[in-house]
Amino acid sequence: MTDELLNHPGALTGDVRPTASYTLRVNGVERPVSDAWIGESLLYVLRERLGLAGAKDGCEQGECGACSVQVDGQLVNGCLVPAALAADSEINTVEGLSGAGGASDVQQALADSGAVQCGYCTPGLAMAVHDLLQRNHRPSEVEARQALCGNLCRCTGYRGALAAVQTVAEAREAALEAELDAAEQAAATAEPVAPAQATEQSFADLALAGELPLYADSELWHEADQLIPPQAQPQAQPPRPAEPAWSGTPAHGTAVPVGWEPTPAHGTAADAAAYGTPAHGTPYLPTPPHGIPHQDPGVYEGAPPHGAPQQDPGGYDGTVYATDGYGHQYPGYDATPAHGIRLPEDENA
Ligand code: FES
Ligand code: FES
Repeated sequence: MTDELLNHPGALTGDVRPTASYTLRVNGVERPVSDAWIGESLLYVLRERLGLAGAKDGCEQGECGACSVQVDGQLVNGCLVPAALAADSEINTVEGLSGAGGASDVQQALADSGAVQCGYCTPGLAMAVHDLLQRNHRPSEVEARQALCGNLCRCTGYRGALAAVQTVAEAREAALEAELDAAEQAAATAEPVAPAQATEQSFADLALAGELPLYADSELWHEADQLIPPQAQPQAQPPRPAEPAWSGTPAHGTAVPVGWEPTPAHGTAADAAAYGTPAHGTPYLPTPPHGIPHQDPGVYEGAPPHGAPQQDPGGYDGTVYATDGYGHQYPGYDATPAHGIRLPEDENA
């Protein structure tokens, strides 16, 4: 819209009555509007340019509600809305209420309840009642009075209009209950639906798709949802076959095979009780020299603790000798004396 105005010669030349061309979508039909003064109201354009005279021109200042229409689902006074600003909106007027079959249930209820005398306020009232029942399928009288307080009627008063609201609400609810009863009976007599074909579509979805009447958040929908066949339950998966035991660490990124034994905890033996760091408090068998297998610790007796004599000197084949510090060897002596202590056989001392 802004671009249209800026590109319009009238706007650029300072014309005090710039015009614009746009398209209104009224009751689902595209209605082009050409060279219309941008100050024209939606009420004016509907009546004078598009020939939709259902909305009435009462006060032209938003007081009487005779011009009520819906713009994007919102009830507005058409006399207060610049038509050019509604160019991208969905507009519903009283002409859209009645289908090919004549008056809508709201219009018929207004007529039946004696809410129509001169009829000038009636199109606005019908739009207001229609809008209310779209938002609230079972309005209280207070809610109905609040919804209709912007629509003035100087002929009949408002008792008829309020009665019409309750009549339509009760009739719609009765119709929905009848449809649900029929659906329940049909479900009871129908062939059982295979679980795989069970539908996830709720009755609310059906209503929104136009297959059932749309009554806002009717509690009947919750009742209707109970009629939906239960969903198929997923089949239990058969147990995985056992995989062969594997003792090594699995490759990085591969699944741990069934039966895999991890590396034993520190201090515990895996399969050779004699090997490994002993558990706390158990005898220690030292690690054998490099190249000697762990499995036969008897092959290796290990070095005696520091300072302790060999347990079995006969079996010990290590060299046992000492020097006196001057290059003399003393085969009979098997330990180096402490520093400063002379050897007893030291003849050179
Ligand atoms: Fe619009 Fe009266 S004409 S409110
Ligand atoms: Fe005449 Fe309402 S019927 S103003």
